[in-house]
Amino acid sequence: MMKSISLTQYLVEKQREKNLIPAELRLLLEVVARACKRISIAVNKGALADLLGDVGIENVQGEAVKKLDMIANETLLEANEWGGHLAAMASEEMEHAYSIPHRYPKGEYLLLFDPLDGSSNIDVNVSTGTIFSVLRLPEGATRLDESVFLQPGSRQVAAGYAVYGPSTILVLTVGDGVAAFTLDRETGSWTLTVPRMEIPEQTSEYAINASNRRHWYPPVVRYIDELLAGSTGPRGKDYNMRWVASMVADVHRMLSRGGVFMYPADARDPSLPGKLRLMYEANPMAFLVEQAGGAATDGRQRILDIEPKRLHQRVAVFLGSRSEVERVTAYHNEHRNG
Ligand code: AHG
Ligand code: MN
Ligand code: MN
Repeated sequence: MMKSISLTQYLVEKQREKNLIPAELRLLLEVVARACKRISIAVNKGALADLLGDVGIENVQGEAVKKLDMIANETLLEANEWGGHLAAMASEEMEHAYSIPHRYPKGEYLLLFDPLDGSSNIDVNVSTGTIFSVLRLPEGATRLDESVFLQPGSRQVAAGYAVYGPSTILVLTVGDGVAAFTLDRETGSWTLTVPRMEIPEQTSEYAINASNRRHWYPPVVRYIDELLAGSTGPRGKDYNMRWVASMVADVHRMLSRGGVFMYPADARDPSLPGKLRLMYEANPMAFLVEQAGGAATDGRQRILDIEPKRLHQRVAVFLGSRSEVERVTAYHNEHRNG
């Protein structure tokens, strides 16, 4: 029988062999994983613990907050505030950055998260997840406000997500490939189940919310119409489409068997550069996708190179199998250049 490797052992080995992760970062990742385990239990209980439905308020994004959005947010804050490994946290569900309370020591890392991604799926029992990104506190930072977080995604030291699906799976990168761990509910431990996730360069599967077609800009219409034309069109093969409407689930499928995931900017509100948030959705997913051999752009440039201006800024997202991301990005560039 194959010996099972736990998340702790995986991280200790990364620390020892490659000197990749300092002990503080290892602690941070284990605490995040523990919080995800708690969130998974809450998601799993659902209606039995009266956890479905809305709280009755809107978050800073103008979206209805679900009970589980709030529980997931509080679980991550509580789990991470006392360990001494963090300087501050930021979340989709909080307008401002959260500095570690004075009664606890402060560390040199910053944690950003989308506590519950795809939360509109909660009430219909479809997969949701948690997405997180870890940055270092910039040297010489004096104030722990929003500005310390505004670093390009290329500076992330770790990123990952947990997907609460038929199994609960944690997918992680510390900049040395991507590994997946499945939660063993009997022992309570995360067990390494995919040591290296790799996105095939070619794919015949894509994910986009096609109901927005009438709002899309021409490069997206061109790209999708070519896919839809299938084997009789310019691409010369048939494509299949899937859209869970939980980014974690769509990206997890893509990391598992390839594909391209898109949430473009569109003409619904030209002031918004897309729907997804750069700092705690696009950046961590882009880091994972690149580490798995794929590519991630906003239709113009590499997502990880974007210099953020605001904590909750939005961004267009094209990520997944390299050849498709390059093509849809090229269509955007061609369109811009007339
Ligand atoms: P969140 O639940 O954290 O607000 O994120 C929802 C996001 C993302 O998970 C998903 O890909 C997308 O919204 C779905 O958008 P549509 O409802 O427009 O399809
Ligand atoms: Mn989300
Ligand atoms: Mn969310």
